[in-house]
Amino acid sequence: MTTYSENPAIEKAMQSVAAVVPKAEADPTRPVYHFRPPANWMNDPNGTIYHNGVYQLFYQHNPYGDDWGHMHWGHARSTDLVNWEHLSIALWPSLELGEDHCFSGCAWVNGDGEPTLVYTMVGQDRENPEQRFRPFEQWAAVGSADWMTWQKHPQNPILSLDTHGGPPFEGGWRDPFIFEAGGRTLLVLGGSYDDTASVALYECTDGSLVNWTYKGSLFEQPRSELDFQECPNFAKTTNPDGEEKWVLLTSPFKPVHYVVGTFDAESLQFTPETQGILDPGISQFTKEDGSPGISPNFYATNILYDERCILLGWVRGFEPGMGWNGCMALPRELSVGADGHPRQTPIAELQQLRGETYRVEDIALSETPHMLDVSGDTLEIEATFEVGVGIGLQVRRSDDGSRCVAIHYDGAELDVAGTKVAFALDDGELLKLHVFIDKSVMEVFVNDGRACVTRILDKAYADTAVDDLGVAVVGQGTARATNLHCWRLSSIY
Ligand code: FRU
Repeated sequence: MTTYSENPAIEKAMQSVAAVVPKAEADPTRPVYHFRPPANWMNDPNGTIYHNGVYQLFYQHNPYGDDWGHMHWGHARSTDLVNWEHLSIALWPSLELGEDHCFSGCAWVNGDGEPTLVYTMVGQDRENPEQRFRPFEQWAAVGSADWMTWQKHPQNPILSLDTHGGPPFEGGWRDPFIFEAGGRTLLVLGGSYDDTASVALYECTDGSLVNWTYKGSLFEQPRSELDFQECPNFAKTTNPDGEEKWVLLTSPFKPVHYVVGTFDAESLQFTPETQGILDPGISQFTKEDGSPGISPNFYATNILYDERCILLGWVRGFEPGMGWNGCMALPRELSVGADGHPRQTPIAELQQLRGETYRVEDIALSETPHMLDVSGDTLEIEATFEVGVGIGLQVRRSDDGSRCVAIHYDGAELDVAGTKVAFALDDGELLKLHVFIDKSVMEVFVNDGRACVTRILDKAYADTAVDDLGVAVVGQGTARATNLHCWRLSSIY
């Protein structure tokens, strides 16, 4: 790891992280092939970009604890989206400028070829503590050619509520995301005013990435439906006919919401066609007042393009106190299916992690669990089923079967470790589950990415012990597992 000792704020933050590494490493529930910081807290992936053959990944990072606070931007890079090299922290709060947090944002290359980060600057409101934060501003930082060291831009704030030319957004107005359409450089920001949640659109015409003009709302919803749209991403994808489809993703304090449609880059009109929930995985918990709460397990997405459109997200909801908290979901290829809804599939590069393999074909299933001759908590499983009346796949199963993490399908509803999602098969269609288990994280892709559920294996759902490692299949009626293929996956650390 490279340290950046010329910046005392970064040096101090890096030392704080280094001191916690032994504690984080000692926790047996910490994922080993999902990206995560050396230690302490991470949330949203930020500034994800593929440039000159290198994938750059920044992320919301608290170097001072395994809970949210002191938002810095952690930094890593990769040449395959699987193995990551941790780098020096990139962005730090410039306390002397009134900045207490560097919130989420994006990376782009400006007209002079300089790496540029555009993000939300947040200052604590010390005069009115009940307000918590002063009005948010959008700031930029310019990087060295190797993307390693960053300077705050002299023109900051590059966008402020007083001068941005749009509605009087209140509360948070945040998470800039740059995209290109029809040769134009555009940016979206999440904001809300009155009863409206808005994805605000801006354009930069001089390549500077610091001069932006308000162009109206790309998308609006009543706040009663989508409260506040954090982390808007607007991604260009294609459907199986090769038609261009745009996917708007937002994180509205509940599972990530998608809207698929067409975008006219001339009139800047987005015409929605379908919408829904991208990944419904949630944990359930009891709030302090005794009422039930939910926490999305996949949240605050970001996008990058190589020859594909790659979707990244934050896996959240872990127990505090382990010296680490949060990881990134496995990178997914994002496209749109013939039905106009998104498809998410794990990237092929992940196959390099496959080690010992186990395969079995065509087993008739019954209520009595059929134990597979494979076990582990870092597994990839591809399983195809004739569903009959119902099928179940159990992982992290204890020897006596009293504990397990279960995926169950009854022909209409899929239950992934307690998260239920309606899922219909066509006549004669088989159910295909593609499951990744990484210690306390599970990601399940169904029928080539038609559904996707991320679950943290939280205690509220399944109190798994570290040595619960079994895998079993069950079924009712004429259910069969027509093909089961498992691999033990290796650690990337
Ligand atoms: C989403 C989010 C963003 C914000 C960041 C702060 O998880 O709340 O809206 O920029 O996290 O850490």
